Amino acid sequence: MSPDLLPDGIVILDFGGQYCHLIARRVREMNIYSEILPSDASVDDVKALGKVMRTKGVILSGSPSSVNARDSLRLDEKILELGVPVLGLCYGHQLLAQLNKGDVRKGTVKEYGSRTAYIEKAEGILEGLELEEPVWMSHGDTVYSMPSCFRVLAHTDSAPVAAFSYPEKGIYGLQWHPEVKHTVHGDRMLHNFVFDICKCASNWHPADAVEEGIRTVKKQVGKGKAVIALSGGVDSSVAAAIVGKALGDRIIAVHVDHGLMRMGESQQVKEAMERIGVNVKVIDAKERFLKRLQGVVEPEMKRKIIGEEFIRVFEEEAREFGAEYLVQGTIYPDRIESGITRHADTIKTHHNVGGLPLHMEFKGVVEPLKDLYKDEVRALGAKIGLPRDLVWRQPFPGPGLAVRIVGEVTEDKIEALRMADAIVTEQVEKSEIAGLPWQYFAVLTDTKSTGVKGDERAYGWTVAVRIVESVDAMTANFTRAPWELLERISNDITNSIPQVTRVVYDITNKPPSTIEWE
Ligand code: XMP
Repeated sequence: MSPDLLPDGIVILDFGGQYCHLIARRVREMNIYSEILPSDASVDDVKALGKVMRTKGVILSGSPSSVNARDSLRLDEKILELGVPVLGLCYGHQLLAQLNKGDVRKGTVKEYGSRTAYIEKAEGILEGLELEEPVWMSHGDTVYSMPSCFRVLAHTDSAPVAAFSYPEKGIYGLQWHPEVKHTVHGDRMLHNFVFDICKCASNWHPADAVEEGIRTVKKQVGKGKAVIALSGGVDSSVAAAIVGKALGDRIIAVHVDHGLMRMGESQQVKEAMERIGVNVKVIDAKERFLKRLQGVVEPEMKRKIIGEEFIRVFEEEAREFGAEYLVQGTIYPDRIESGITRHADTIKTHHNVGGLPLHMEFKGVVEPLKDLYKDEVRALGAKIGLPRDLVWRQPFPGPGLAVRIVGEVTEDKIEALRMADAIVTEQVEKSEIAGLPWQYFAVLTDTKSTGVKGDERAYGWTVAVRIVESVDAMTANFTRAPWELLERISNDITNSIPQVTRVVYDITNKPPSTIEWE
């Protein structure tokens, strides 16, 4: 792309702080592109980003370590000579202070949580702020003083230099985290940095990725053919839609129905994609999967079998179609977490599809969403015209209902669970807590118990209902669901599924539990 058409952007150097992605998200929310690089990135790595953006500033993230530790993470100091402003946050603040001969030592107390920053000079990065500002702190080291050429902008009760600037050199530091919502005017601080100090223009919009993605795919695939495994989740659906627009009937979206999908799910996925012009081939592979799962009770073995069989079916279809390219719905956090940089030129063809490496050789991998966060992918999905329920679908494990059936997976158990799951979904979605939980589903346990159905004794299965709240699935809390909702779910399940005699509610958080039962 011609440099004039590139968006303005901010580079974030990741020193391992827990809020690094949040900084990138906050910058993007202002319609400024941002890319995260590891802290050991060289000045050339930063310059290489010139292919995708006009770098207008650099932000150094926080870190769990100390700048005074023997093996502390350092910065390629040539980055400070690039001629763009550099903002250090927390560890980044301390590192900039140390590199500029400031006095940085272990503080007398660790500041953690919401604190008051006393603003001494409401200028530059702190322009427009009050005399006292609530800010979010999380640090052990403290900057005690800076050389006189630096301007001290703020202090807290235990941090004498909580904000500084050296505008002539383009260096700025904040001891606190403006990216965290608890820093009430954090958005204003970041706004001051990117717009007033770095002079960025808001010229990046996630929805532009549709057109850009189509152009890139056309260039990459040329006249070749591509294949995508369509799970029905938002990432693979949006990726398929973009590639579909670029390649027309030279892409085949393969949806492997392993017989472990939720009620009506495969049909919904097919219809939604076809409405936006993507050809979907649904492979009915129920029998193959069920046969291989016969007698298997161990959860990891179930996953392995399903993963293997999935790959086998998918490869057969890809070969038959003559696909040379593999499309994947990899998104930005996946790429950063697996350490793959945008500029790595070795194409990795052994990415996961359903949890196992592909043995098939492809000419290349197409990843049209590799620069986007989940919420940006959702915005794109909505723009492309995917239905709301697909765009906002709750996560569903690759091995499907098999990891929600404790013990052997059989056809009648799948059928019962599918009905129970549909009841939980329907009841939650029409209740007062609709839209709040992260996930809500049913599990078929291997516990049988006695009940009374009609006037007769019944001996049947126990269904567990799981409803959890979470932000990123790393931790989760069970939802304190209204009793009336739970009662409706329980009544509906026992009334409509003859084999179920008992319904229980899972009241375990993650940790110690996981969200899924297996
Ligand atoms: P756990 O059970 O580990 O799940 O707390 C965390 C999140 O990941 C989803 N999950 C999976 N997703 N393949 C997937 O694509 C899987 O094998 C898988 N296992 C768990 C789960 O639904 C939850 O949102």
